[in-house]
Parts: sequence; C-alpha cells; structure tokens
Amino acid sequence: MKVAVVGAGRIGGNVAAQLARAGHQVTVSFARDQERLRVLAAAIGASAATPADAVAPAEVVVLSVPWDAIPAALEQAGPLDGKIVIDTTNQFGTGPKPGDGETAAAFNAARMPGARYTKSFNTLTSSFQERTAHGSPRVVQWICGDDDAAKTLVAGLVRDAGYEPVDLGGTRDCAVMEAPRRDGAVYGEEYRLEDARAVVGAARAGRPIPPTPSYERAS
Ligand SMILES: NC(=O)c1ccc[n+]([C@@H]2O[C@H](COP(=O)([O-])OP(=O)(O)OC[C@H]3O[C@@H](n4cnc5c(N)ncnc54)[C@H](OP(=O)(O)O)[C@@H]3O)[C@@H](O)[C@H]2O)c1
Repeated sequence: MKVAVVGAGRIGGNVAAQLARAGHQVTVSFARDQERLRVLAAAIGASAATPADAVAPAEVVVLSVPWDAIPAALEQAGPLDGKIVIDTTNQFGTGPKPGDGETAAAFNAARMPGARYTKSFNTLTSSFQERTAHGSPRVVQWICGDDDAAKTLVAGLVRDAGYEPVDLGGTRDCAVMEAPRRDGAVYGEEYRLEDARAVVGAARAGRPIPPTPSYERAS
C-alpha cells in the first residue's frame, strides 16, 4: 500500500521502517531537519517528501507528531478525505486538548473531517516497539476507530509491522488505551493476545479490565 508517514521520529520512524521492510511504498514527511529525514528515508527504503506530496497519493496516513505539532502537521498534510489515518499521538504538552470525558481519539478524529480515523501504536514506548517488532509471541498494538473496514485494513498493517492487532472499539470508548499510565488501563503496558481478548471482553461488557499481566521476556 502507499503509506505517508507524517512525523518520522521515534514512533513514526519505526512504523515507517517496519512497513517499508514489509514491502509497502512508504513516504516520510514533516520534519524541521530535512537532511535527517532524507537520510532516514534512504536507510529504510522509503522516499522523503513534503507532507502534502506524501499524503496526496497515499491510501494510509500515519500521523506521528508531538501533540502541539498536530495542527501544523494537519495543515501541511492537506485534505484527508477518504484516507485511512493511523494516529499514534498522545495528549502530552501544549495545544488544544480533549474536554472532560472526551477521549483524545474522538477529539483528534473531529480534527480530521472526511478521514477514516483510527488510533494505534500509541500505548508502548518507542524503544519497546522497536525492540519487540516481529517478536514471539507478538506484542499487542491496540486499535480503535469508528470505521470497521478501516480498522481491518489497519490490523493488516499492524501485523505487517510485526505486532498483534487487537480492536478495542470505537473512538468514544477507548479511554483505557490512552495516556496517562494508570491502574485499570492498558496504556503503557505490554499485552499478548490472550490477555488482550480478556480486556476487550471486559471493556465491551462495561466491567473493569482484569489486572495488568506481566510476562517473562528475554533481554
Ligand atoms: N516516544 C514514545 O515512546 C511514544 C510512544 C507512543 C506514542 N508516542 C506519541 O507519538 C507521537 C510521536 O512521538 P515521537 O516520540 O515519535 O516524537 P519524535 O521522536 O519527537 O518525532 C516527531 C517527528 O515530528 C517532526 N516534527 C516535530 N515537530 C515538528 C514541527 N514543528 N515541524 C515539522 N516537523 C516536526 C520531527 O522531526 P524534526 O525533529 O526534524 O522536526 C520528528 O520526525 C507523539 O504524539 C507521542 O506522544 C510516543
């Protein structure tokens, strides 16, 4: 697929590298340091372009910028109509924030009218994501969104990137996968498929999620 990565830093850079390695046509974009962007693109088998040139032909747009850079990134990206967006952001730092009881996913989806919005790759640190890609057993990357077909496609990309996709639900019901790290949430925690299924079951039934699992991991 044609994938535009807007913000190819720690998280977006890893997603770009994993998807390029899986054979996707990846273009990285949005950087203050254009030379570093070009070096990254060359190293991972991707192209570098302006956000608008990356996004226009892309079927999928990965938005992976600091929270306060989202308005500038969206403005430079241009129209997102009909494009599948994978938002990796978390609401740290400055800039407009979700209201009380509103998820960051619902807040950001509303900032991208016409896009087929999903959120993923946001719950685990960048070093952990890089280290565990294609590991066995696979580490879960949670997905939320209100477009089931978009989520199915994103699940395939998450698999291609080397992780286990788990659909947590819609943008209004995904607070457990959002910052901050806290008891009763999956944000910041490693999950494997079986434990993730128990979380989904509890969340859909309106029950508290089971206690956070812990796993033995070599290295
Ligand atoms: N780091 C983590 O462990 C982690 C984990 C999960 C989710 N997240 C979330 O994922 C998002 C990305 O995080 P990250 O850690 O990958 O960030 P990062 O390493 O700082 O990467 C951000 C990217 O955006 C570019 N950028 C930033 N500000 C810009 C601006 N004003 N104009 C143009 N380009 C700009 C940067 O390029 P230049 O530096 O060249 O400008 C960089 O490539 C954040 O919302 C974060 O909360 C992070």
